[in-house]
Amino acid sequence: MLSRRGFLRGVSGGVVAGGVALRARWTDAQVIAPTLTSGDLKPTGPLDEAYWWKVRSQFNILDGMTFMNNGTEGPVPRVVVEANEKFFREIAENPSNNYRREEVDVVRGLVAKFVNANPDEIALTRSTTEGMNLFTHGLDWKAGDEVIYCNHEHGGGIGPYTTLTKRIGIKPVIISIPSPPESVDQIVGRYEKAITPRTKVIMVSHMTYVTGLVTPVKELADLAQRRGLLISVDGAHPLGMMDLDLKAMNVHHYAAAGQKWMMCGTGTGVCYVRRDVQDRIWPLMGPPGEPKDGAKRYEAFGQRDVPSVLGMTAAVELQNAIGKPNVEARVRYLSTRLRAGLKQIPGVKLWTSEDPKFAAGLTLFSIRDIPMDNIQKAILARDRIYIRTMTTGNLNAVRAATHIYNMPAEVDHLIASVKHVAENSSRYMSTAVAQ
Ligand SMILES: Cc1ncc(COP(=O)(O)O)c(C=O)c1O
Repeated sequence: MLSRRGFLRGVSGGVVAGGVALRARWTDAQVIAPTLTSGDLKPTGPLDEAYWWKVRSQFNILDGMTFMNNGTEGPVPRVVVEANEKFFREIAENPSNNYRREEVDVVRGLVAKFVNANPDEIALTRSTTEGMNLFTHGLDWKAGDEVIYCNHEHGGGIGPYTTLTKRIGIKPVIISIPSPPESVDQIVGRYEKAITPRTKVIMVSHMTYVTGLVTPVKELADLAQRRGLLISVDGAHPLGMMDLDLKAMNVHHYAAAGQKWMMCGTGTGVCYVRRDVQDRIWPLMGPPGEPKDGAKRYEAFGQRDVPSVLGMTAAVELQNAIGKPNVEARVRYLSTRLRAGLKQIPGVKLWTSEDPKFAAGLTLFSIRDIPMDNIQKAILARDRIYIRTMTTGNLNAVRAATHIYNMPAEVDHLIASVKHVAENSSRYMSTAVAQ
C-alpha cells in the first residue's frame, strides 16, 4: 500500500521537476534516520556530505521548503521536539513535581560546559532580550552615565538602554562601523574613541543581526578591562553556530538565544553573568537571593516552561554529537559557498564581509535597487526559499542564514534564484510576481 508520504512524493514528482529529487530524499531520510549520539562517528570535515545528510535527517523540515532564516528562529530537531513532548506529557499527567529543579540544574551544568562557563554563571532565560534586560536593568545607573553601542544593534539588546535614557537620563553614544570593516583595529578604535570619563558599559553584538558582522569581542573585552568598563554582549546568534568559549572571551555578560542557531524552540535562552560582577547586578524579579546562589538568582520569574528548558539537553547533546568545531566549520563552508556564488552575479551587492574573521552564518545582500520585499517574495514564490528582509540602517537588503541542516544544493538553489531575479530585475522593480 502507498504511504501518505509516498503518495505526496508521487504527486509533487509530477509537478515540480527541479525540486523532486531533493524532496524525495529528504522525506526518506526523515522516516529512517536514527538519532545522532555522542557515540557516533564525527564528520571527517565540512565536506563530508554523507555525514551532513545524516544531520539533515535529524530535522522534519517541511518538504520542498528551503529554510534559510535561522537568524530569527531555527527549525527544531526531532530529538528536541520529542524531549519537549515527553516532559510536557509527564508534567501534564503529574504536576506534583512541576519545577523539576534538580533536572533544570543538570541542564544548567550541561549548558555551562557547552559554552565554557561555570554553572553558577548561567541563568536559563526565555530569550536573548530577557538576558540583555537582566544585566542592564540589574546594574545601578546615574543620570549622565554613558553606554557605547553601534548603529546595527538589535532592539532586544538596546531596548533597556532606551528605557534607562527616558527613565534616568543615561546617555547612549552610538557609533557606526563600516560594512564591511577593514580591520579589527578599525572596529576597536571606533569604540575606544567613544570612551569618556562617564562611560560605564560597552554593549556589542557578537554577531550583528544586520550584516552578520562577527565583532572582535575578545579585543573589545580587553579594551573594557584596560579602561575599567563593563562589557555586555548580545550573543543572540553565535550559540549553536560558533564554537563559543565564554571564559576565553573575557566578557562580563553574554546573553544568547535558544531558539535560533541552538534550535531549542521558542522560550529558551542563556544568560552568562561572570561571577566577579554578580554583586553589581541586582536580580530584577523576586527576592534578591544570596550571592552563593550564583546566576540562578536571575531566574526568579515564577512558574516557567519547564519542558522547553529540559528539552535543551537534547539540543546540547545533538551539538556535542556533531562536535562544536564541526558545526562551525560546516556553517562557514555553506556561507562561504553562498557568498562566493552571490559575488559572481552582476548587480548583487554583498554587505557581509568575505573575511572569515568578520563573518559566519549570516549573509546580507541587495540586488540592484530592487525593493527587498519584492526580492524576498519572488524568491519564496518562485523557488520556495525562505529568507528575510532587512531595513536597519536604511538598508534595502535581504538576509540568508545557512545552518547545519542546509545542504550545498540548497545554497546553489538560492544562488540560482538570486541570479534569475538579478537578470530579470526590471520585472521585479514594482512587483514580486514571478513572470
Ligand atoms: C542580535 C539580536 N539580538 C537580540 C535578538 C532578540 O532575540 P530574542 O527573541 O531571543 O529575544 C535578536 C533576534 O533576532 C537578534 O538578532
